[in-house]
Amino acid sequence: MRFDDHDLPRIGLGTNRLRNTGENVTFIRAAVDAGVRMIDTAHLYTGGESEQTIGRALSPMPADVVVATKGGYGGAGHGRPQVLRNEIEQSLRSLGVDRIALYYLHRVDPDTPIEESLGAIKAYVDRGAIAHVGVSEVDVPLIERARGVLPIAAVQNNYSLAERKHDAVVDYCTREGIVFVPYFPLRGADTPAVREIATRRGATPTQIALAWLLARSPVMLPIPGTLSLEHLQENLGALEIALTDAELRALA
Ligand SMILES: NC(=O)c1ccc[n+]([C@@H]2O[C@H](COP(=O)([O-])OP(=O)(O)OC[C@H]3O[C@@H](n4cnc5c(N)ncnc54)[C@H](OP(=O)(O)O)[C@@H]3O)[C@@H](O)[C@H]2O)c1
Repeated sequence: MRFDDHDLPRIGLGTNRLRNTGENVTFIRAAVDAGVRMIDTAHLYTGGESEQTIGRALSPMPADVVVATKGGYGGAGHGRPQVLRNEIEQSLRSLGVDRIALYYLHRVDPDTPIEESLGAIKAYVDRGAIAHVGVSEVDVPLIERARGVLPIAAVQNNYSLAERKHDAVVDYCTREGIVFVPYFPLRGADTPAVREIATRRGATPTQIALAWLLARSPVMLPIPGTLSLEHLQENLGALEIALTDAELRALA
């Protein structure tokens, strides 16, 4: 998939358990060496250690790696412009970058209109400190309100074989050419139908779960979370699996 003038393999890496250790710095470098080009983090993750580890591992940030981060998580009040400004400033420092490639509003604040939260993020876009903006856990009407403020490049929602409540959002993103990033993408891999297809193909059930997502839409870019290089390589292997129509029907 094309993003920010680069080719992105459609499997990324989730980092919500990443602690700032030497071993994990090595892991993030190895992930990039293995071909990962979308690394997903957030201000919230591991109390800031996830962003710090990525910054430590990749400084200076390679131009073709998209490190996506997020702010505004935590419920009422956390989407206020001042809270977001503080979090964006911290994320820029932790990641060691002048420009964040992709910045998501992590949650819509029930007490702050999405227009106000995104207005704060837009100020950073206007000054070149954020390149692209996304939203997370949103329905289609909220995406449309967000697009009234600024272009939305990505939507990140809970979606997998086991969680289909955002089918309408996937279809909308497909039509509009917005990257859809499913979080918890490996849920639902442990069913008889998945195991049967995996066994027949000599693949793992998690690879089949990812291959199903990739077949669901050309804008789909799952970010399975792992701290294991072996699992990461296995997850990238799903890019080579094209499920047949019969297999897709068995998983429908
Ligand atoms: N936007 C949001 O609100 C939101 C919410 C939650 C998560 N996220 C993002 O989504 C990412 C993905 O979610 P997640 O990491 O919680 O859930 P996940 O990707 O569904 O699952 C992660 C779990 O699967 C294991 N795993 C990964 N690859 C595997 C493989 N090939 N074989 C067997 N097990 C494997 C991991 O353990 P190992 O370490 O042992 O591989 C870990 O226990 C997060 O890291 C985060 O970046 C976003």
